[in-house]
Amino acid sequence: MDSIHTAAQDVSSLVNPVACPVGTGAIVIFGAAGDLTKRKLIPSLYNLAAGKLLGDDVAFVAVARAGLDDASWRAKQAEDLATYATGEVDPAVRDWIVERTYYVDGNFDDAATYERLGQKLLEVDKRHKTNGNRLFYLATAPDFFAPIVENLGRAKLVQQENGNWRRVIVEKPFGTDLETARALNKELRRTLREEQIYRIDHYLGKETVQNIMVFRFGNCMFEPIWNRRYIDNVQITVAESIGVESRGGYYDGAGCLRDMVPNHLLQLLALVAMEPPTSFEAEAVREEKAKVLRAIQPMSPERVLTHAVRGQYGTGKGANGKLAAYRHEPKVGANSHTETYAALKLAVDNWRWADVPFYLRTGKRMPRRVSEIAIQFRRPPTLLFRNTEVDHLSRNVLVIRVQPDEGIALRFGAKLPGPNVRVGNVAMEFKYSETFGSTPSTGYETLIYDCIKGDATLFQRADMVEMGWAIVNPVLELWHALPEHEFPNYAAGSWGPWAADELLARDGRTWREIED
Ligand code: BG6
Repeated sequence: MDSIHTAAQDVSSLVNPVACPVGTGAIVIFGAAGDLTKRKLIPSLYNLAAGKLLGDDVAFVAVARAGLDDASWRAKQAEDLATYATGEVDPAVRDWIVERTYYVDGNFDDAATYERLGQKLLEVDKRHKTNGNRLFYLATAPDFFAPIVENLGRAKLVQQENGNWRRVIVEKPFGTDLETARALNKELRRTLREEQIYRIDHYLGKETVQNIMVFRFGNCMFEPIWNRRYIDNVQITVAESIGVESRGGYYDGAGCLRDMVPNHLLQLLALVAMEPPTSFEAEAVREEKAKVLRAIQPMSPERVLTHAVRGQYGTGKGANGKLAAYRHEPKVGANSHTETYAALKLAVDNWRWADVPFYLRTGKRMPRRVSEIAIQFRRPPTLLFRNTEVDHLSRNVLVIRVQPDEGIALRFGAKLPGPNVRVGNVAMEFKYSETFGSTPSTGYETLIYDCIKGDATLFQRADMVEMGWAIVNPVLELWHALPEHEFPNYAAGSWGPWAADELLARDGRTWREIED
């Protein structure tokens, strides 16, 4: 047990060199009355406070158009926390948060809102010794990102002076394609310097995702075989069992590819495929990830036709009965051509990965919620087994399970007991919860903590966001030009359209069957 605890401390000191309270600053949330704030941000701030990871000189300011004041906002916050906290709420921690929380009402495009915010922040600086340090979290609809930053600039709220810091976290979606992402980057940089901009991708806050670097570069065993000589293919799956729920309004205009691939799936790919950085410093890590994205072979329209698959769910069956078709979901067009499933075959054309396909798939209304990266190794030669009952040997597979049941499993062949040589598949498994216990979290804690600390390692740089869009842009364009007439093409509660199986079958491969 002791050795496990020592290892755990070492790991955290690699990722967070000082996992101690960070503080001195006001955390300002724009769009505070929205879903993200109550479901993720407030519970995350609570978890940070409960874990004693926030210093005393911290305060919180909510900006929204909800017509509230300090008192009514505080009451709402306490109520939301009771509903959305990831564990039991300790009243002392809740009160600690509530008593340093303030509210500013106003429209995001009204200069008067920023005047009021400026005054509130001066009061907060005095009362809580926040020292002029400010983290602005833009948890609003994307149309407001640029106007808010521009207004913050005009009101001189993001100028760094006298040694203080001013940072802005920008939520996704960051643009809707390459052109709009570039335009947004340009607009933000009119007011902010690149190092003040923290583009969030919440997948990078997930524990197993952060562990990929430690697993690869903190162990000697895997890196020597982490290349085209030993690896046959890599499969990245992000499957969701839910449908679009109440988000049809946004999702029907966006689609699965935009929603998931340029950000979450490509970030996972970059972590798996990157070269070792020279340090855990933000720039060193982000540069290596950027190199992988740059090495992804651009897709021509012809290639899109053979390397990209889209799907939309029809009616189907889930554990609790009948599931509605996507076209019958609220706020979705009755003839919608929007995809709810996407699969891609990508080539990372560099010395480590040439000829190793990276297969990506993601979709809504899959049989279960699971995100994993499966590294499939090459088959061994069968010469030795010619005179046995073994007619083929399976590939060794290393599975990095991102969620749920976070962990890592290594699957390999072993002799089945008995006088004859027969081979079966067995697994060695590491499960986070069994080894370290489970600490319920939203996944945003590390990201907020890092931003207060000024560590941008887990955030996306401007060029990375643009490269993500550049990779999917040809697919978006072709799919837009040639709408799919066969929708719906997979049943809700199934693993997606047959064309996704075809995509691998053409290469003599299959998707990994995901066990329970
Ligand atoms: C979001 C997407 O970025 O990620 C959602 O907009 C998706 O459509 C969600 O459901 C998945 O995140 P997680 O953490 O639940 O896997």
